Amino acid sequence: MNESTILMNDAMLINPDRIVPPAAWVEHIPFLSWLIVALKPAIFVELGTHSGNSYLSACQAVLENHLNTRCYAVDTWQGDEHSGFYGEEIFVSLSQYHQEKYAAFSNLLRMPFDQAKDYFSEQTIDILHIDGLHTYEAVKHDFETWLPKLSNNGVILFHDTNVHERGFGVWQLWEQIQDSYPSIEFPHSHGLGILFVGNSQPEVIKHMISLWQDESNRQIIQRLFSRLGKNITLQFMISEMRREIQRLNQEEETLNQTVLQLKADINQVHSDLSQQEQLLSAILSSTSWRLTKPWRFIGRLVKKHLAFRGL
Ligand SMILES: C[S@@+](CC[C@H](N)C(=O)[O-])C[C@H]1O[C@@H](n2cnc3c(N)ncnc32)[C@H](O)[C@@H]1O
Repeated sequence: MNESTILMNDAMLINPDRIVPPAAWVEHIPFLSWLIVALKPAIFVELGTHSGNSYLSACQAVLENHLNTRCYAVDTWQGDEHSGFYGEEIFVSLSQYHQEKYAAFSNLLRMPFDQAKDYFSEQTIDILHIDGLHTYEAVKHDFETWLPKLSNNGVILFHDTNVHERGFGVWQLWEQIQDSYPSIEFPHSHGLGILFVGNSQPEVIKHMISLWQDESNRQIIQRLFSRLGKNITLQFMISEMRREIQRLNQEEETLNQTVLQLKADINQVHSDLSQQEQLLSAILSSTSWRLTKPWRFIGRLVKKHLAFRGL
């Protein structure tokens, strides 16, 4: 078996069942799926789930690969300053989908991160994905509070290590901690930093870390996962366009119905008008109308006369 065969697994070719906006995370799905199968975590925890793109792909990887992983998503499902504040419909839609497919091994914990940490024992979490508020202070706090919960093969993922704007500070924390443990980082899709905090990693992970030390290997691995991720973005864009085409088709159908109705209304007005015209010409040409013509003439003269005299 050569090096690349050991590194590859089928899970990196995952075809996500559900991608919804916002899609900022989706290009890391192949790596997360690869990692889950490489590590076979007993416990996976995500801090910051929003509409569920990263979390549901983790659940899908667990299910498709018949793993005994228990998954937990922690979020208030209210939003924050960076992801924006959002309505109840996000949680309702995620929760409904989640309950149907993954309730057997996964739980949505609707609460602040600091409250959820009390529900996990020290050294039990194998993969922790930190993707909450992205200020330096918030992500440092999340990292420091949850670090003791990580097991001896624990791995922490940080999203947005490559965002240098809008008060994001994950890059700053990442600079400070990336050399404290073995680590790798993907710059694409806003950046994903992976910190191998457990000191007893499986062979395949050790192999990945050792390949990473070589610049050309590192570039190939980064490009490989970036390309796989790009496919997911393209699939998402195609499905969004299909949805838009469907919406436009429905709109066109409604407009066609309105145009038909308007044409029918116009025809009706024309026919009413011509009936009125026929009636009028019948009146004008009638004998009584002609006989009363002098009286109508006198009536008009009297009106003018009275008007002239101010009466
Ligand atoms: C960037 S979004 C998560 C994106 C998600 N991982 C994805 O795949 O699209 C951040 C989420 O973290 C949640 N959040 C931020 N700080 C939190 C805290 N202290 N406790 C609970 N939830 C929090 C927000 O409600 C928001 O839904």
